[in-house]
Amino acid sequence: MTYLIIHLLHIFSVFIYGGFLFTDNLFLSRIKNDLNAEEHSRVREYFMKYVRQVVPKSLIVAVLSGIYLISVNFGPISEAGLSNFQILLGIKAFLGLWLGVRGVLQVFFGIQPLVFKSHTFPFILVVIIIFLSQLMFS
Ligand code: HEM
Repeated sequence: MTYLIIHLLHIFSVFIYGGFLFTDNLFLSRIKNDLNAEEHSRVREYFMKYVRQVVPKSLIVAVLSGIYLISVNFGPISEAGLSNFQILLGIKAFLGLWLGVRGVLQVFFGIQPLVFKSHTFPFILVVIIIFLSQLMFS
């Protein structure tokens, strides 16, 4: 039961975080073409005002629930070395943790990312993470 609840928390929190990145990259980036610079920055600021209330917390929930899930799922390393599942899960967790650290530093400590500064980078990582999280079970 605990596993089920935390698994669901993981799924919903990554929906919220990933959903924001999809919306921002696929749709909001387009309205720049329809508005002048001042209007665009106002619209974006309104949007981000509400994003900031929810999305960073979702990212933290995604990382914390992910750490619980990996502690249950990873399993022992056999003498033959890491299984394909463990390798893919390890890469997925590394990318997820990277996003988590990056997001927390940026939002809660005001430290901007050193590399890959735009929202396109986390968007691409989320797409890769979703692929890995399905591929690892096959
Ligand atoms: C923002 C970052 C993350 C995203 C977008 C993400 C996304 C996902 C998705 C889509 C699934 C598949 C759920 C399913 O098919 O039922 C999943 C499962 C999983 N995630 Fe994450 N995740 C993130 C961060 C993390 C982190 C940081 C860890 C570990 C440290 C982690 C560990 C896991 C594990 C172990 C599973 C398998 C759970 C299971 O199916 O029983 N995730 N994740």
